[in-house]
Amino acid sequence: MSVPVARVAGVSETVPTSDDPTRVAARMAELADEIRRLDVRYHAEGVSDVPDADYDAMVRELRALEAEHPELVADDSPTASVGAAPIGATFAPVEHRVPMMSLDNAFDADELRGWAERLARSLEREDASDLEFIGELKIDGIAMSLRYEDGVFVQAATRGNGKVGEDVTANVATIASIPERLDGAPPVLEVRGEVYMPNSTFEALNEAQEAAGKPRYANPRNTTAGSLRQKDPTITASRGLDFWAYQLGEVVDGPDTPRQSDALDWLGELGFPVNPERRRIVGADALVGFVEQWTEHRHDLDYDIDGLVFKIDGLDLQRALGSTSKAPRWAIASKLPPEERTTTLLAIEVSVGRTGKATPFAVLDPVFVGGSTVQMATLHNDDQVRLKDVRPGDTVIVRKAGDVIPEVVGPVLADRAADSEPWVFPSDCPTCAEPLVRPEGEAHTFCVNPFCPARQQAQIEYFASRGAMDIDGVGERTVALLIAEGLIVDSGDLFHLDFEKVGELEGYGQTSVDNMRAGIDAARGRPLASLLVGLGVRHLGPSGAEALARAFGHLDAIMAADVEAMAAVDGVGPTIAGSVAAYFDDERAKALIEKFRSGGVNLVGPEVSETEQTLAGMAVVVTGTLAGFSRDEAADAIKSRGGKSPGSVSKKTAAVVVGESPGASKLTKATDLGVPILDEAGFVSLLETGVVPGVPTEDAASDEAAPEGDAPADAG
Ligand code: IVH
Repeated sequence: MSVPVARVAGVSETVPTSDDPTRVAARMAELADEIRRLDVRYHAEGVSDVPDADYDAMVRELRALEAEHPELVADDSPTASVGAAPIGATFAPVEHRVPMMSLDNAFDADELRGWAERLARSLEREDASDLEFIGELKIDGIAMSLRYEDGVFVQAATRGNGKVGEDVTANVATIASIPERLDGAPPVLEVRGEVYMPNSTFEALNEAQEAAGKPRYANPRNTTAGSLRQKDPTITASRGLDFWAYQLGEVVDGPDTPRQSDALDWLGELGFPVNPERRRIVGADALVGFVEQWTEHRHDLDYDIDGLVFKIDGLDLQRALGSTSKAPRWAIASKLPPEERTTTLLAIEVSVGRTGKATPFAVLDPVFVGGSTVQMATLHNDDQVRLKDVRPGDTVIVRKAGDVIPEVVGPVLADRAADSEPWVFPSDCPTCAEPLVRPEGEAHTFCVNPFCPARQQAQIEYFASRGAMDIDGVGERTVALLIAEGLIVDSGDLFHLDFEKVGELEGYGQTSVDNMRAGIDAARGRPLASLLVGLGVRHLGPSGAEALARAFGHLDAIMAADVEAMAAVDGVGPTIAGSVAAYFDDERAKALIEKFRSGGVNLVGPEVSETEQTLAGMAVVVTGTLAGFSRDEAADAIKSRGGKSPGSVSKKTAAVVVGESPGASKLTKATDLGVPILDEAGFVSLLETGVVPGVPTEDAASDEAAPEGDAPADAG
C-alpha cells in the first residue's frame, strides 16, 4: 500500500491548517505522526512507503510550522532527528556491546503458527505442539538498555540504530522504579526493557496542559520519547515515566538462568519491574490463544501495547536458532488488530484543494482511538462514500489506518435512523458554487473553475510555502484575508501589493506589513526552480524544476521550448515535459508570468557550470553540519558537478556524507543498506575525483565478493 502521503495530503487539503493554534497543532501532530511512521517503516523494515520528495516535503512543512509556531513544537518532534542538526538536546553516543535488535512481525494467526512450525522444523522436531515459549506484552514505549557495574546503575542508553544509541543516563536515573543499586548483582549486568508513560499519567499531563492553555500531547509513546530527550532531568522527573524489564543484555558472571522465564524471574528478584502478564506457553495453538486474550483485554491495562512478543523460552534453543542480521529467529512480535471505536458521523463535508480536487471528509463527534483524538477523517471520493454507505447521523466505526491515519470503517447499521437517506455528493462547489465535474473514468470530482477562491487560496499558499518561494509573512490566514479584501487574485499579485491598503486591514500593524514586504522582496530573488515549483504544475517537483532551470537558463526559454526539447533534459522526461508545455500553453499562465516579470521576480536560471562533472548521475546525501560547507553549499557543490543531493538515503545513494550531529535516520538507513559513509575529507575527495573513498572501483572490485545485501550504487 503506498497511499499514506496521498492521504495525508488529502487530509491537509480537506482540513486546511490556519493560524488557529488547535488546527495548526493538529496538522503538526499529524505530520509528526506520519513522519515517525515512515521513519519506522524505513528503519525497521527498510521500506519507503512514499517517494523521497514527498517525505522531504512533509518534513519541510513541519519545520516551517515549527518555525512559525515555536510554542507548538513537540519536544519529541521528528524534525529533531531527521535532516539538519537536531533541535534540542544532543546526547553522547553509546556503543551497545550486545546489539539491541528488532523483531520480525507476525500479522495474523497463520503467520504466527507458521513461525512456530518453522522453528520446530529447524530444531528437528515433528511439530510445534510441545515447543515452550514465553508470551510477553509488547510495550509501546522506548527501548532502553540499563547498565549496572558491581550492582551500581552506571548508564542508560537508547536503542539508536541497534549498534549505537544515545546516553540518556541522567534522565533515566529520575525514573523511580529503576533501581540505583542492586544486591547480589554480577559485576556487569545490562537490562533491556521499555520506558513508558502510564495512560493515567499521560491523561493527567494533558489535563495540566489544557488548564495552562497549552496544546495536548499526541500520545504516551511520543511523550515518553520527548521526556527522555530533555536537557533538564528535572523535567523528565516530573513526567512520571515507568519501566518494564524484558531482556538481558551483556552479563558477566551472572547466575545460571536456563530459560528466558528464569531470567525475568531473576530480574524481578533483583528489584526490576517485570511485567506480571508474562506467561509460559506450550505449543502453537496456545500462542494464538494468548493473542486472542490480549486483543480483547488490551484496554484493561494502564499502558499501551502495540502487540505481543513470543520468545522461545529455553536459552539453549535460542542459541541454536540464532539471529539474522536484524532480528533473532527465536522471537517474534505479534501484531494486534487496530483498535476500533464508534462515534457519531456529524456531517460529510467537501473541501477543494489546489488542483480543484473535491474531497469529501467525515466530521466526527471527537473520539479517542489508537492513542489520539480523531474528529475528521478523509472519505477520499464519492465512490468510497457510496461503498461504505456512511450517512450523516450514522454511528460509525473509526480506526487508525496503519496506526496513524484516521479512517471511517463503516456504519453500524443496527443503529441507523429509519428515515436516514444516503449522502449525495454536492453538484456544486461549496466555495465558488460552480458545477463540480467528475471526468469519465476518474474516481475524483473536481472544481474546474481555475478562479475558484478555494483553489486560488490553496495555490497561493503553496506558492508562498517553504518548498516553493518561501515567503515570510504570507501564511494561510494572510492569503485568505488578501483574497477576501480583493487585494490579490493570484500569486503574481503578491509582487504588486498595495502595502498601504494592507496596513489598513485589521490586525496588520506596521511590523507585520514590514515583515510581509521584506518576505516578498526576498522572494523576488529566489532561484528560478523555486518559482517553477511554486506554479504548481502537475508532475513538476523540485528536481524536475531544477533540471529545467539549469538546462534552459531562463523562464522564457522554458516557455518557448517544445515537449521534445524538455523531455530530452536529464531528470525531466515526457510526462513532466508534456505537463509543463500544456501549462504554459494557457494564456492565463502567460499573464501570470507577466505579473512576475513586471513585479521584479527573478526569471533567470543558474549559471551554466563549467565545473568538471565528476559526480554525473550520482546521488550523495549530506547529513549533519560540515565545517567547510553550509547545507546549501554542500548541495551546490554536488549539483554543480552533475550529482544529485536528495534528502534521504536509498539503495541508489552512492555515499552519505556525515558531519556534526547527523540525522540518526539517515545514518541507520545508510548502515542498513550498506551505503558508504564519508567524513568531510572523504567528501572533498569525492567532489574532486568522483570516486567514493574506500569503495573499490569496478576494476579493483572484480575479484572481490560483492558486499552483502544491496550493493552500493555505481561508485566509479
Ligand atoms: S525483546 C532480541 N520484548 O519491541 C529481542 N521487545 O521491535 C529484543 N518491545 O525494540 C526485543 N516489548 O522496544 C522485547 N517484551 C518485549 C518488548 C519488546 C516491547 C520493543 C522493543 C524492541 C521492539 C522490537
